[in-house]
Amino acid sequence: MSKIDVVLGLQWGDEGKGKIVEYLSSNYDIVARHQGGPNAGHTVFKNGKKYVLHIVPSGIFNQNIECFIGGGCVINLMKLIEEIKSLEEDNINTNNLKIANNAHIILPIHIDRDKNKEKESSNSTKIGTTKQGIGYAYSDKMLRTGLRFEDFVSENWLSKMIESTLCGDKTPNEYFAFMMRRHGKANYEKIREKLKSFCINGFDYIHSALKNNKKILAEGAQGTLLDIDHGDYPFVTSSNTISGGVCTSLGVPPSAIGEIYGVFKAYATRVGNGPFPTEQENELGNKLREIGGEYGATTGRPRRCGWLDLPLLKKAIQLNGVTQLAITKIDVLEKMEEIYICENYDQGLPVYKKFIGKWLVFNPLEYIEYLQKRLEIPITIYSDSPESEGTHTLHGIQSRLDNNLSISS
Ligand code: IMP
Repeated sequence: MSKIDVVLGLQWGDEGKGKIVEYLSSNYDIVARHQGGPNAGHTVFKNGKKYVLHIVPSGIFNQNIECFIGGGCVINLMKLIEEIKSLEEDNINTNNLKIANNAHIILPIHIDRDKNKEKESSNSTKIGTTKQGIGYAYSDKMLRTGLRFEDFVSENWLSKMIESTLCGDKTPNEYFAFMMRRHGKANYEKIREKLKSFCINGFDYIHSALKNNKKILAEGAQGTLLDIDHGDYPFVTSSNTISGGVCTSLGVPPSAIGEIYGVFKAYATRVGNGPFPTEQENELGNKLREIGGEYGATTGRPRRCGWLDLPLLKKAIQLNGVTQLAITKIDVLEKMEEIYICENYDQGLPVYKKFIGKWLVFNPLEYIEYLQKRLEIPITIYSDSPESEGTHTLHGIQSRLDNNLSISS
C-alpha cells in the first residue's frame, strides 16, 4: 500500500505551490487536485513559457503522470475546456487527465451571485473573492442541490441541470433557458462530448492506485489561512485547504497520508480582504510587490505585501502536521535593503526581528537556517527564480545544518 504525499500552502495562497508540485512531480505516478476550483492560479514556467493552471493539476507537463481532479473540487466547465485547449495547442498531452464523478460543477448562476454579492457588500463585509462562483457552488453542494460531474456527463444531463441549483427569483426552467442562451445548448453538448471520457469513479481510482503502490501527490489550492474552518472567517475560501481536507475530498483515511510539504513564501502576501498583521502599506510593501511581481494569477489584482509571520506559520504547521518545508521567492529578499520577520506578538502587535543591519548583505541560506531553527521543521526545498531550474533541494546542505555547521561557508 502506498501513501499520499501532500503539497499545500501555509499562508494566504500564492505561495508557489504549482512550481513545487511541478518540481516534485517526476517522483510520482499521480498528481491530484483535491479542493478548490478556478479561484486558484498555479503558475508554472516551462520551457521559457508561463502557464497559469486554474484547475488542471500541475503534473500535466509530465506525460508519464496521471492528473486527477478529485471529488472535493468545483469545476467551471467552460474554463476547464479553455485550459485543456490552450495546453493542447502547446502539444501538452491532456489524455492523462481524470475527473472524479463526484466533483461539483460551477454554474453561471454561481458566478453571477458571487459577483453581485461582492458588488452589493459594504467595504467592511466585502470578502474580495475571485468572483469565480466558488462559495455559491459549494453552497449548492452543501444544500444538496448541486450538479455533479457525473450528472453533467450522463445521458439525461439536461433534466439534471434543470433540477439542480436553487435559482433565486427565477424558476428552474427560466433559469435554465437563461443559461442556455448564455452558453448555447450545442456548446454544452460539445463540452459534454469532450469531457465524458475523463469521468471516473474517484473512490475506485484512488484506492486501486494505493493498493497498486502508485505514488500519489495531492496538490492543495489557496492556503491554510484561507481554510473555511480555521482561517480568518469570513475572509476565507469555501473549502478545507488544510491537510485534513485531502481525506474528505479524495475519500481516503488519515492513515493514507505520507509526507506533508508546507510551502511558504519568504515574505507574506494576501489578496482579498481580511486581517494581515504584518502588512506593509508603505514603500517596503510596494517594493516587495514590484520585485516579486505580486499581482493575482487569476484576477490580476495587486497583492497586499508584508513580512513573514512566524506565529502564523507555526499555527499553519500545526494545523497541517507539516513534515517538510519548501520556501519560495527567496531571491526577492536579496533585492531588499531591509528585511524583517515577525517573531511574536506583544499586545496584538507584531514584534519584528530586523535581518539586514545585522548581516549587512542578505544571505538566503542564513535566512533559511534561522527559519528552520525557529520552525523546528526541515526546510528541504527552496526556490530562487520563477523558472523550474530555480527550485533546489537542500539535502546536501541539510547535513551541515544538522551538524550545526554554517551553510554559507
Ligand atoms: P473565493 O475563493 O474566490 O471565494 O475567494 C475567497 C478569498 O480567498 C478571497 O480573499 C480570495 O482573494 C482568496 N483566494 C481564493 N483563491 C485564491 C488563490 O488561489 N490565491 C490567493 N487567494 C485566493
